[in-house]
Amino acid sequence: MATPNDTNSPNPLQDKLLEHSYDGIQEYDNPMPRWWLLTFAGTIIFSVIYVFNVGPVGNGKGRVADYEADMTAYAKAHPAPTGGDMGAPQLLALARDHEAIEEGEETYKAYCASCHAPDGGGLIGPNLTDAYWLHGGTITDIYKTVTNGVLEKGMPPWGKTLKPEQLAEVVAYVSTLQGTTPASPKAPQGTPVTP
Ligand code: HEC
Repeated sequence: MATPNDTNSPNPLQDKLLEHSYDGIQEYDNPMPRWWLLTFAGTIIFSVIYVFNVGPVGNGKGRVADYEADMTAYAKAHPAPTGGDMGAPQLLALARDHEAIEEGEETYKAYCASCHAPDGGGLIGPNLTDAYWLHGGTITDIYKTVTNGVLEKGMPPWGKTLKPEQLAEVVAYVSTLQGTTPASPKAPQGTPVTP
């Protein structure tokens, strides 16, 4: 077995003790193996190539640009509902259609009652039975609010959750709540709208 500073060692450098000694602990000057150094240098070279070809700089467009291009393409193919695809005449016709209103009531009980109360009197969300509206009280205004939501105020957008006919029916149902008397109405919010 080779001992420290043994001149008969096959690689005298390999087993050379370094001069310093910390608390009596000494170490050999063992260089990293060549394959390891080459791999290490390779990773550095790769990282530079990677940044310039894949990252946000350099001639490759980069992941951020790719992501944004994909999102733009997706948005083009799937336009956000604007609330404009159902006109007032269709909505008003639904509001007179008993079946549509019954369907709308089902949807309302399932998705809206938790925040607007089962009778529309309001809980977290505003009272939907009074004449006061934050976002407009015409049937098309309501359709827009329900489709797009008011996310920052806690009203979810329903345009993508509900099917188009469910959306229209629930709006038709909400319009029938006007003027009803809920058990514990929430105080009016917004401005009065005369029908
Ligand atoms: C998580 C709670 C929540 C749910 C669920 C919810 N809403 Fe709302 N909604 C709100 C809040 C909060 C507001 C008030 C937003 C604001 O202050 O601008 C609101 C506002 C509204 C408005 C506008 C009221 C106004 O005064 O202009 C309508 C209409 C409405 N919601 C209908 C619905 C319908 C229909 C559903 C079910 C499909 C529904 N909401 C489900 C919380 C909710």
